[in-house]
Amino acid sequence: MTKYSPLTRKMSNEVRISQRKFIAIVIIVVILLIYTLTRSSSCDSKEFTINNNQQQSQSLDNKPIIYAITPTYARPVQKAELTRLSHVFRLVPNLFWVIVEDADETSALVRNLVNRAMLSQRCVLLNAKTPTNFKLSKRDPHWSKPRGVEQRNEALKWIRKKIKHEPGHSIVYFMDDDNSYSTELFEEMSKIERMRVGVWPVGLVGAMKVEKPIVENDKVVGFNSVWRPERPFPIDMAGFAISSDLFEANPSAQFNYEVEKGYQESEILRQVTTREKLQPIASNQILVWHTRTEASKMDNEIKLGKKGLPPSDEGMII
Ligand code: UGA
Ligand code: MN
Repeated sequence: MTKYSPLTRKMSNEVRISQRKFIAIVIIVVILLIYTLTRSSSCDSKEFTINNNQQQSQSLDNKPIIYAITPTYARPVQKAELTRLSHVFRLVPNLFWVIVEDADETSALVRNLVNRAMLSQRCVLLNAKTPTNFKLSKRDPHWSKPRGVEQRNEALKWIRKKIKHEPGHSIVYFMDDDNSYSTELFEEMSKIERMRVGVWPVGLVGAMKVEKPIVENDKVVGFNSVWRPERPFPIDMAGFAISSDLFEANPSAQFNYEVEKGYQESEILRQVTTREKLQPIASNQILVWHTRTEASKMDNEIKLGKKGLPPSDEGMII
């Protein structure tokens, strides 16, 4: 018969308690492991958001500012277009918005929109009215006169002054208010080198699925456009961005009314670069689409007016 001294009993109790503790710890560890694995595979998990934010604020410092120039004019779809764009801006911290209204003065609508989107620190509101002889009338086909000339030139004046006081690498992009932009486009655009122009594919333009630069060994060797391929740069405004130092190096570079239809892009590009110097970017992806919003029908709104009734949006916040 084995005799237990009080000491041996105490020791074996301690061993039994440790075993139970050990099993409990293993169970907790396994549960935690399963929890962590399932959480990190989900896109909307907290971990993902936190990591993502950390990544953004780290890379913000070494990313160039992108000055996005948006000409815009009053029409029923304007607020819808600018709302879509403002949400892109909220997701891309290195974007700075240069909005130029085609009007005699800036409007409450645009001011309020920018403030509500909390973008006032990353935005400037300008205005420049298109001269009457160049303004499209209701009956003119949309392509019959150049659009955005006055506004983009006003923005370039503002940017030239701004970069004089704030040296460093930055980029200028002509961002029309009606296109559709992926946030990834701005990641790619941030790779544009000093003194260079970046070019990339644009979807739904030129009566094709995509118009794109043809790239071989990281060089642009041509373009696939079918409409006026003889243009010096047969690409859409949405398909390129310019390192801002090229505007300092070419102080008179600007848009011009006196060019053929569809030559606005070639006009600005020929003043700052050559085909050989173009920097191809995201060559096999479509990250921007030249969408065009259908003008909304207003027949019944007009009927209200004729009957002396107030407009349907009376009392709505602008
Ligand atoms: C195409 C290009 O994508 C434009 O960048 C280019 O300016 C235009 O052709 C051209 O060749 O002039 P498209 O879709 O036909 O564009 O032009 P819109 O989107 O109607 O206008 C371009 C920009 O100018 C828009 O941001 C628009 O809001 C603005 N705009 C248009 C004005 O500020 N005032 C106007 O009277 C018309
Ligand atoms: Mn457009």
